[in-house]
Amino acid sequence: MSWLFVFLWMAVGLCGANVCPCERPQLCEQIRGQRDFEVFLFDVGGTTWKSYNWSMITTIATFGEYDAELMCYAHSNGARVLLKGDVPLVNIVDKENRTAWIRDKVDLAKRQFMDGINIDIEQAVDKGSPEYQALTDLVRETTEAFHREIPGSQVSFDVAWSPNCIDRRCYDYVSIAESCDLLFVMSYDEQSQIMGDCIAMANAPVNQTLNAYDQYLGMKIDPKKLLMGVPWYGYDYSCLSLSEEGKCSIAKVPFRGAPCSDAAGRQKTYKWIMKQVDSSMTGRMWDSQQMAPYFNYKNEEGQIHQVWYDDPQSICLKTDYVKTKGLRGVGMWNANILDYSGETVAQQQTQKMWNALLGC
Ligand SMILES: *[C@@H]1O[C@H](CO)[C@@H](O)[C@H](O)[C@H]1NC(C)=O
Ligand SMILES: *[C@@H]1O[C@H](CO)[C@@H](O)[C@H](O)[C@H]1NC(C)=O
Ligand SMILES: *[C@@H]1O[C@H](CO)[C@@H](O)[C@H](O)[C@H]1NC(C)=O
Repeated sequence: MSWLFVFLWMAVGLCGANVCPCERPQLCEQIRGQRDFEVFLFDVGGTTWKSYNWSMITTIATFGEYDAELMCYAHSNGARVLLKGDVPLVNIVDKENRTAWIRDKVDLAKRQFMDGINIDIEQAVDKGSPEYQALTDLVRETTEAFHREIPGSQVSFDVAWSPNCIDRRCYDYVSIAESCDLLFVMSYDEQSQIMGDCIAMANAPVNQTLNAYDQYLGMKIDPKKLLMGVPWYGYDYSCLSLSEEGKCSIAKVPFRGAPCSDAAGRQKTYKWIMKQVDSSMTGRMWDSQQMAPYFNYKNEEGQIHQVWYDDPQSICLKTDYVKTKGLRGVGMWNANILDYSGETVAQQQTQKMWNALLGC
């Protein structure tokens, strides 16, 4: 009896990882079909995914812990589930190390029944450095390996809001775009390097955001490789002073060569923002230059804060461009941070945010 037990224990230990955890084994089959229009989201863990609008979702990049239930559920809705890929570039300049990293990710994707990988490397890279070439090679080799080993799988790469060495990310954007299935353009944190006055500004001003897509397209990157990522969060700045015109001056926090940065503020979820605006001094205001909402509030100590964020009005002005330019789709950072409590007002706000992804 005891030998049988040991045998079973070993069998489970050795093969258990490849047993389909879903109710039906078909749900472990990878999603293969290409979609004309992608709604691509990041999930950072927890159970809010149960409240997402699954009729829209095509791809979900999982940045939280592996959740088999989420994988099964996504597959039952025809949505892909992606691994996260991140590695210090200094370690993958070496070809053997790079190959080992890719092997590891492909094996993990197979064991977890995943449909591809989202590569999220936001490290500073100088043009012409060993890391510059290694990054391009990493993306190309990862894509080749995934396509070969998991037919129909998707490999995407996250890029900064503009290709102009933002945050010293001077990557070979053209080659990277050619080497993978799509680029997720992170159209947010656009005040990470403030060169002018140190004042609070919009996380993703409309014109600045769209001009950057014109630049990506101007480099002859195929519009079908570009996904627009919008923020579902904003920034809360403590104002050193508030001018008569309402400009909030912020502490000087340098970042990668710039004297000040949005790092002076705190990132806040749309859920938090929607609660805070109700008890603000100003209520929701609209900046017609940046085309973004903002408000001022006083904290418990009487300190004035200014909050800049995106809401359906500012988001749909951007996502309209996705249709007019024929981009591959839309997405957001991140799906978890709306209010999914089901409370009436929250439910309407949440629904409008999802729908704004598809334009005005
Ligand atoms: C979910 O998205 C679809 C569009 O794909 C929309 O028609 C529907 O109203 C949305 N559902 C909710 C509850 O908002
Ligand atoms: C290979 O990667 C490991 C970490 O996984 C690192 O410690 C090592 O220095 C790397 N080797 C080279 C030659 O880059
Ligand atoms: C934004 O860009 C559009 C088109 O280029 C232009 O007509 C408009 O004046 C700009 N708005 C602002 C506030 O800069």
